[in-house]
Amino acid sequence: MSVYEEIVSAREQALSSIQSATDLSNLVDLEPALFGKKSALGSLKGLMGKLDASERASVGQALNQAQKEVQEAHQKSKNYFFEHERNLQLGAEGIDLTETLKNPNHRGHLHLVTQTMERLEDVFVGMGFTVSEGPQAETDWYNFEALNLPEAHVARSMFDTLYLDLGERTEIGDGEGGESTKFLLRTHTSPVQIRVMESQEPPIYTVCPGRVFRRDTADASHMPVFHQIEGLVIDEGISFTDLAGTLNDFTSAYFGGAIKSRLRPSYFPFTEPSAEFDITCVICEGSGCQTCQRTGWIELGGCGMVHPNVLRNCGIDSEQWTGFAFGFGIDRLALMRHGIKDLRDMYTNDVRFLSQF
Ligand code: DAH
Repeated sequence: MSVYEEIVSAREQALSSIQSATDLSNLVDLEPALFGKKSALGSLKGLMGKLDASERASVGQALNQAQKEVQEAHQKSKNYFFEHERNLQLGAEGIDLTETLKNPNHRGHLHLVTQTMERLEDVFVGMGFTVSEGPQAETDWYNFEALNLPEAHVARSMFDTLYLDLGERTEIGDGEGGESTKFLLRTHTSPVQIRVMESQEPPIYTVCPGRVFRRDTADASHMPVFHQIEGLVIDEGISFTDLAGTLNDFTSAYFGGAIKSRLRPSYFPFTEPSAEFDITCVICEGSGCQTCQRTGWIELGGCGMVHPNVLRNCGIDSEQWTGFAFGFGIDRLALMRHGIKDLRDMYTNDVRFLSQF
């Protein structure tokens, strides 16, 4: 066989192997055999040095031409499979937004967080609490100052606050700004306590569920927008044991009898004394697992006896009335109850995920 015939045969062989490839990875696997030093065309190139100078130019040209054809055929085939595989993938991942309409029995349902919020409200209403709401855009007074967190208080850094620029405005919502005109997105539901105490006479037994905001980057356990529920009790003769008992009763009512609560000393500017409350791990029921880091307990929220300064800020006589408050995150609760690994899944609105709950 002349060297030209060898080039033709090597080219044919290469082209036919390209043709018989059935997918993209096949083509990628072929690359060494098509373009490597040891490929048919590659080894012919290696022989060039042994040729007569007179032949070298035209053999070189024939080799280059063959190689170019093989490269083009390979690229073309790669493009084809890339496009084809992408279409298949898109087809498989596509969500038919009219899907639920096609099934007359499928009526959709409330979002998991809303369901959780409503269940929590039901339990507290069953215990004699009312439900209160407040605005999501707040003033510095309600979110911080009235809660015994003055301007320079170090504990303010606990809350990564998103401030609002309302231009010339000096009021929000119902026109009440308390004693400040600095606006922000509430970082917790505690400002609702203040609004309730300002507008109602004790005794007060209320819970305040709602959306809160913090300057946080979304990850598996944080979202810049999330939900909390706040509890507030103001009455005569309320003590720390009432707080402990109420939280324990709530825990068993919501999670079932096997789940108990415990308190650990902590600090919040708006309560004194303050505590953090834990509940028996709902996954392992206390025996220790990955979720509770083998402690048998999970941290739920904060609580304490309402600070006399907070009562005074709301015009309540702290000699006559005492009370307790508590607050915890709702999203995390839903996450744990349903064994969801990533908080972000709750908010990407994929019906396949949401319809499970
Ligand atoms: N507001 C607190 C937070 O977001 C939680 C909290 C702690 C609420 C203690 C309370 C309380 O009412 O008494 O971290």
